[in-house]
Amino acid sequence: MDLDALVSDAQARIAAATGSAALEQVRIDVLGRKAPLVLALRELGSLDPEERRARGADLNRARRSLEELVDRRARELAEAELEERLRSDRLDVTLPGIVPPRGYTHLIEGTRRDILDVFVGFGYRMVDGPEIDTVHYNFDALNHAPTHPSRQVTDTFYVCDDVVLRTHTSPVQIRTMEAGPPPVYMATAGRCYRRDTPDATHTAMFTQIEGLVVDRGITLGHLKGTLLGFARAIFGAEREVRLRPHFFPFTEPSVEVDVSCFNCARDGSPCRVCRGEGWVEILGAGMVDPNLYGYVDGYDPEEVSGFAFGMGVERVAGLRHDIPDIRLLWENDLRFMEQFG
Ligand code: PHE
Repeated sequence: MDLDALVSDAQARIAAATGSAALEQVRIDVLGRKAPLVLALRELGSLDPEERRARGADLNRARRSLEELVDRRARELAEAELEERLRSDRLDVTLPGIVPPRGYTHLIEGTRRDILDVFVGFGYRMVDGPEIDTVHYNFDALNHAPTHPSRQVTDTFYVCDDVVLRTHTSPVQIRTMEAGPPPVYMATAGRCYRRDTPDATHTAMFTQIEGLVVDRGITLGHLKGTLLGFARAIFGAEREVRLRPHFFPFTEPSVEVDVSCFNCARDGSPCRVCRGEGWVEILGAGMVDPNLYGYVDGYDPEEVSGFAFGMGVERVAGLRHDIPDIRLLWENDLRFMEQFG
């Protein structure tokens, strides 16, 4: 065995090892149990003492120097591999993260809140009422004659003979008066249902906001002032309101309320919103019909009087945002909805 050749070959292989795993293979080949150098060391015993000492010293020196070389190379490689891992595993915390899309309030809900905020600001108490209600609350106690057309099954969804999906939020008037004595300053909001064929201004389910005030000395002037405050808060400080005679079974007198057009001023073109009228109908209202107090306890028509109003949230949203068809509000097309987000 040519020791010098063996050592220089081993040195070359150690230097050439490009990774820890490759170097370990070299170590096994050069210094492992079956390596020629190690086998030669084991065979020293069979040599005579003179030769053994000289040969042994050479072999051991060669082994130690190779061991040192392997160790040094192993440290070099481990360091380089650590560097490489640190480089490739690096997390750049300055990169922008993945931002989850943010939700936003649906326009119907947003409009509902805007309107209720106005009445909460006036000091009204918020109340809730059931969407499924009895014929008593939806019609009878609201003074509807037994023959009133809106009772028909073609107009109203009946759950059974005396239970309906409420057609308006007005039943909450009766429920509120039943629940406690005057004075009452309440607002309520919620879904209502009518068997309307859907079109640009009707859907079978819609959202209403109702207000009821009962106190001593309440007049139509209070109603008008209240609705003027509401109209200005929602449609702009320049607005005026106009009351036109109308009919509802549960108010007397009853009115339809118009707000001065807020669209005409936007540009000079013929106004789509009011069709050149200058006024836009926004709600129904009136003085509480004294008959209603007969359906509840503790309300004396000689002592108190009141007003009530009801409006469609989709209609208000549609007018405010110039939406040509309120069905868009229910189709949930994000391309449409997102502009109000
Ligand atoms: N409930 C009526 C409707 O749905 C609106 C209204 C409410 C009218 C309160 C007068 C008073 O059309």
